[in-house]
Amino acid sequence: MAVLPVRIVGDPILRSTTSKVTTFDKHLAKLVEDMFETMDDVGGVGLAATQVGVDLQIFTFDTDGIRGAICNPVLEVGEEIQNERQEGCLSVPGLGFHLPRSNWTKVTGQDVHGNPIEYEGEGLTARCLQHEYDHLQGMLYIDRLQGDDKKTAFRAIRNRNYNSVTGETQAQRSARLGTSFAPAASSSAFGNISPGKGN
Ligand code: NI
Repeated sequence: MAVLPVRIVGDPILRSTTSKVTTFDKHLAKLVEDMFETMDDVGGVGLAATQVGVDLQIFTFDTDGIRGAICNPVLEVGEEIQNERQEGCLSVPGLGFHLPRSNWTKVTGQDVHGNPIEYEGEGLTARCLQHEYDHLQGMLYIDRLQGDDKKTAFRAIRNRNYNSVTGETQAQRSARLGTSFAPAASSSAFGNISPGKGN
């Protein structure tokens, strides 16, 4: 097992659509093991393959007691919207914003052996499944923000300070507790990056 480097916004692979998994072999199993280890190491609740530089439709997650990996996921969402929780991303460190998402989600796909598998959940789990699914379409949560939040997010990413925060975040990651969605991870350590927003 190995902890893999997490790609940061600006890396083109985060903006790429991904290829379907067609070979369910030991290499795939090793990749998924490494993704779990990486996700745990950085304190994330979810990780998509593109975030570790791999062009495949796979993500791992660990939320509300549900831990899983899914290949070639198809997403289904409910109509009810959740709004209360702040969202963040390991590939967009130092930022967090409230983002409306469907409160219920189901993903249907395959496990590492190619067998049919599905996961469903509400609240944080639903948010995470939607977030990771988006990654596999080359989409980041900040793309879904609107108005001032979107301006603030993209301004922060363009801001030169962001580079130093990114470096600092990378350095601290292994030692830092929290989750990619946890307000504490973005607002306490790096609250100055998104003044008045999302904390
Ligand atoms: Ni993410």
